[in-house]
Amino acid sequence: MAVFPPAFLDEIRTRVPVSGVVGRRVKLIRKGREFHGLCPFHNEKTPSFTVNEDKGFFHCFGCGAHGDVIGFEMRAGHLSFPEAVEKLAGEAGLAIPTASPEERRREIQRAGLHDATEAACQFFEAQLRAPSGREGLAYLRNRGLAEDTITRFRLGWAPDSREALKKAVMSAEIPESLLIEAGLLKKPEGGGASFDLFRGRVMFPITDRRGRVIAFGARALGDGMPKYLNSPETPLFHKGSTLYGLAHAREGARTKGSVVAAEGYMDVIALHQAGFDHAVAPLGTALTEEQITQLWRLADEPVLCFDGDSAGQRAMGRAAERALPILTAGKSLRFATIPGKDDPDSLIKARGAAAMQAVLDGARPLVEVVWAMSLEGKPLDTPERRAALESELKEKAFSIADETVRWQYWNSFREKMREAFRPRRAPFVPGQKKSAVLGPLRGADGRVAGIPRPSPPIPARIRQERQLLALLIRHPPLLDAVGERLGETRFSDSALDKLRRGILSHLDGARGLDEESLCAHLRSDGLAGALEALLVSDEAASARRHEDARTLWEHTFVRYTHSDIQAETEDATQILANDMSDANFQRLSAVVSLGTRGTEFEDDDR
Ligand code: UTP
Ligand code: MN
Repeated sequence: MAVFPPAFLDEIRTRVPVSGVVGRRVKLIRKGREFHGLCPFHNEKTPSFTVNEDKGFFHCFGCGAHGDVIGFEMRAGHLSFPEAVEKLAGEAGLAIPTASPEERRREIQRAGLHDATEAACQFFEAQLRAPSGREGLAYLRNRGLAEDTITRFRLGWAPDSREALKKAVMSAEIPESLLIEAGLLKKPEGGGASFDLFRGRVMFPITDRRGRVIAFGARALGDGMPKYLNSPETPLFHKGSTLYGLAHAREGARTKGSVVAAEGYMDVIALHQAGFDHAVAPLGTALTEEQITQLWRLADEPVLCFDGDSAGQRAMGRAAERALPILTAGKSLRFATIPGKDDPDSLIKARGAAAMQAVLDGARPLVEVVWAMSLEGKPLDTPERRAALESELKEKAFSIADETVRWQYWNSFREKMREAFRPRRAPFVPGQKKSAVLGPLRGADGRVAGIPRPSPPIPARIRQERQLLALLIRHPPLLDAVGERLGETRFSDSALDKLRRGILSHLDGARGLDEESLCAHLRSDGLAGALEALLVSDEAASARRHEDARTLWEHTFVRYTHSDIQAETEDATQILANDMSDANFQRLSAVVSLGTRGTEFEDDDR
């Protein structure tokens, strides 16, 4: 694909001073042969960004950003390589070298194809406003699209006719052969006259990053099949390297410093309409490496948004695996899951932009997703099973080509394994048989020994708290059986604790409540924020999948109360070691005796 001769690129590099180009965006201070300033690619207060005019490079010691004048223009201006080259050449007054005859031929062909797709786009737009498009326009309005959105995305209507487009746009400049090559007309395989490919459908023009129409997605009204028909691959349109909405999202991505990838056309449009003007989507296929690389040109950590169903979660796994090999320092992905059966479009419609924002805020880093997916459904109760997990994680970490990132991943995984394999039971207290310490809970002063404060909350506790509540929200009748214990258990996380109390206040009606009505009650109790945050968590997703909610609740509760006791035991042991007083001994006794209760579920635990 190289279009520019290397000598021409070198000419740009020698003729255009880096400091000049950088100086337009960064205030530079000269220090000898170098310039210093605040890095435009990360947030900093003291300058670690340098420009070396002799070497023709910029380098940031803070974030590692590095490159030549073309690279700077690409990154700072969010331009593709040819775009940056053209811009710099134009500014330096350098003529772009003429291409080979073959390249020229292709260039002319592409220009023709652009004319064809643009003419078709204008035709479809006009049809949407014409009587023939009444049904299509009604459909779009019905789906909640504002006039302005329809215009901005240049939505259109392809009349239900075999020749409407052909008759309207075919001309000397746009001959039949061009329309066929652009994927707009189709020649029947058995011979005969060509006909319109898109008929009786709402048209979504697909553009390149500069906003030029290169293809179409076309939706049937109602249940017509296939639901979406897309342009075939053409010299202009390569599905795997195109992102729907990219031209619209560039500005939003730049100002927000992030980009969101959803799954479908309507999702992108609904997101933009709701203010998420940094949304794009692949075109009905899993994200390709090329698309991921394009997302990284817009933001360091694009957020990929997937449906909560099993297909969505599988797609998430594929995207994660595809991204690993091509990770580089500072570039990653985050993953957001839409709860329930919604997609971004329906979520925004049902619960508003705030719910969508909560989903995006809940996006999890790639490393967490890979870890969680490797772990899912795998008991870790034998050395062999733990070893199997270890090899799987090793394979994933070692699929990363970038050495630095690879070792960081492997380190993270090892740390997570250490944490996960750590024994969970309360430590054995030497010299103390449990039966011997089951005495009265009174200190030497005759008062009941105070239970030491629980240790500060650790993430595992919060996960357990979420799990306990998520199960209840998914299966409200559970409250009957567990409500009393929930009432006695204060949660460490204050938002979750409020939600706990909120749920308890519906204890009486729990038998007749379903998930939806319980959520509606909680929202009207002013707990919407805490509820949304919970509903987008992993725990909420796993609570939905889990068949036997009661058993999972009991297991979690035992572990939850146990980790509490474990922490308290450690505390009390420490206190006793420092001061062997009778009171401290009683305190430890009290905690250890608590640990012998409520363990009936421990034995069949995994
Ligand atoms: P979905 O079936 O999730 O569609 O497909 P959607 O975007 O929610 O569409 P609406 O809301 O029903 O209108 C997601 C994406 O997969 C591609 C399209 O790009 C679609 O946006 N797709 C889907 C196809 O290419 N062909 C199909 O037949 C269906
Ligand atoms: Mn949809």
